[in-house]
Amino acid sequence: MLLAQLDLEDAELRARLATGLEAAEKGLQDTAAAAADPRIAALTGHLAAFGGKRLRPLLVLLGAEFGEPWRAGVIEAAVIAELVHVSSLYHDDVMDAAATRHGVPSANARWGERSAVFGGDWLLARAARLSAALGVETIRLNAEVAGRLVTGQLLELTGPAPGEDPIEHYFQVLMGKTAALFSMSLSIGAQQAGASSASIQALDEFGKQLGLAFQIADDLLDLTAPVDWTGKERGKDLATGVASLPVLLARADESPGGAELREILLAGPSVDTAVRLRALELFQSSPALATTEAMMHRRLDRARAAIQDLAPHPAHQALEALCAFMAARTA
Ligand code: IPE
Ligand code: IPE
Ligand code: MG
Ligand code: MG
Repeated sequence: MLLAQLDLEDAELRARLATGLEAAEKGLQDTAAAAADPRIAALTGHLAAFGGKRLRPLLVLLGAEFGEPWRAGVIEAAVIAELVHVSSLYHDDVMDAAATRHGVPSANARWGERSAVFGGDWLLARAARLSAALGVETIRLNAEVAGRLVTGQLLELTGPAPGEDPIEHYFQVLMGKTAALFSMSLSIGAQQAGASSASIQALDEFGKQLGLAFQIADDLLDLTAPVDWTGKERGKDLATGVASLPVLLARADESPGGAELREILLAGPSVDTAVRLRALELFQSSPALATTEAMMHRRLDRARAAIQDLAPHPAHQALEALCAFMAARTA
């Protein structure tokens, strides 16, 4: 779990977060597998049962620290954020035809694409139902994030409009598919805890920048991290032809040293295993990786800047620790 890997200065905060995460985990497991028919419950409970970092519930709890974190509603908010996330994984694995998630077969690999899509829908519906108990603002944020997530994924499918800069388009995709839920998680936590609107605004911006950095790191790890580390296939983005940031940068690399990689990437999805392995090998010496990492660090700097003016609080250091964790993941 992520919390254990964070360098937190305040032991009380760590204990409070651990308690909150435990409660959220219970809520998540109870909800995800709550379908009346056991065959449907097996589908909807599948991915939640096999772990994940639980980063979004942690963001909810950290957001709540800027108000009164013990208030009723905070734990439910953490469950909602993870339900939306897990739901998006069901849909994303269909979109990417991914066979593996959390180190186990994806829902589409086990039950087929049609069931996986409805499984994801079911989880999203549960998140909406839970949010109904938390007030209109949470319902609004939940509805908003679902729309933004879907829009981000659709934009990834449509690709850039004619004449649109591909990197600008990439960031539009990320704002929807990843950053929106990071912002929402911090916001609903803070809002349920009664934090000030200035705090919510700063946390929202922090979440956006952290989410962008997180997806850039995920794109890098697709090319560099071993399977047992991510629980996902290596080079999946190459196989699917996803225009991730390192891919876009390598495609634009017109130096002689980048010619072979550029040619492979411009040819479209690398369905041939040998070609994909060659591309992965070429990436290791491509300047695209260092540039991608630098662009990630820029977002982490912006995240830190966004919370600079928040009142001093141990959770502030925790958010900084999250940025450091993010930077270390790809180092
Ligand atoms: C995966 O997110 C989807 C992306 C936004 C890249 P996580 O890496 O947080 O998923 P978990 O931890 O496996 O649930
Ligand atoms: C999808 O991005 C993010 C969402 C879950 C919506 P990716 O396609 O990069 O996520 P992974 O790599 O499959 O986790
Ligand atoms: Mg994917
Ligand atoms: Mg990915």
